[in-house]
Amino acid sequence: MAIIAPSLLSANFLHLEKDCEMINNSKADWFHLDVMDGKFVPNISFGPMIVEFIAKSAKKYLDVHLMIEEPEKYTEAFKNAGAQNLTVHLEACKHLHRNIQQIKALGMNAGVAINPHTPVESLKDILADIDVVCLMSVNPGFGGQSFIPQTLEKIRTLKAIIKQRNLNVKIEIDGGVTLENAKSIIEAGADVLVAGNTVFKSTDPIETILQLKSF
Ligand code: DX5
Ligand code: ZN
Repeated sequence: MAIIAPSLLSANFLHLEKDCEMINNSKADWFHLDVMDGKFVPNISFGPMIVEFIAKSAKKYLDVHLMIEEPEKYTEAFKNAGAQNLTVHLEACKHLHRNIQQIKALGMNAGVAINPHTPVESLKDILADIDVVCLMSVNPGFGGQSFIPQTLEKIRTLKAIIKQRNLNVKIEIDGGVTLENAKSIIEAGADVLVAGNTVFKSTDPIETILQLKSF
């Protein structure tokens, strides 16, 4: 059974507390919070202040996905805001290993996200130090895009590397996850499914989460 992480990027920000309550009352496991700076990705979402408000309502694990340049400048702010897992992008970090050390030293779990064009092999020398690999299955920046099918092969390759080295790293898939493709993504080896539009644009989000959980 996969971990389900609804992405609040697709929530209604006028009723954020209501949407947090919905996730609290559902079978979802994590909250997925997408932070965008308008530089690393062509969109701006929210920062530590909103994460802190969400943390007050959220009764589940807070998974914060930083799509920002120079994430080291904000690591402590997100820790203070309530982040439990902090994911940074490989493509946004000049000193990725140092960034991971910083996240760990603050007592959070650490994740590394890679864009669709980045091979999973480039994670080789950081894999033993992290808790989550976030494979982007769309180009980051927006919710509601289509799943890039080639991601399935990347999941299989990464899963094999993790197994062969006997590591304890979760594979998280972010972007374009639907009720139609969730099963094949889990079968390929995913441990965590992020779902934005599929959950929040559904007429019955609680039921949709339950269905995602059932694959
Ligand atoms: C995209 C974000 C995703 C996004 C997923 O840059 O990282 O977390 O919210 O949204 P859906 O599930 O709608 O593709
Ligand atoms: Zn995300």
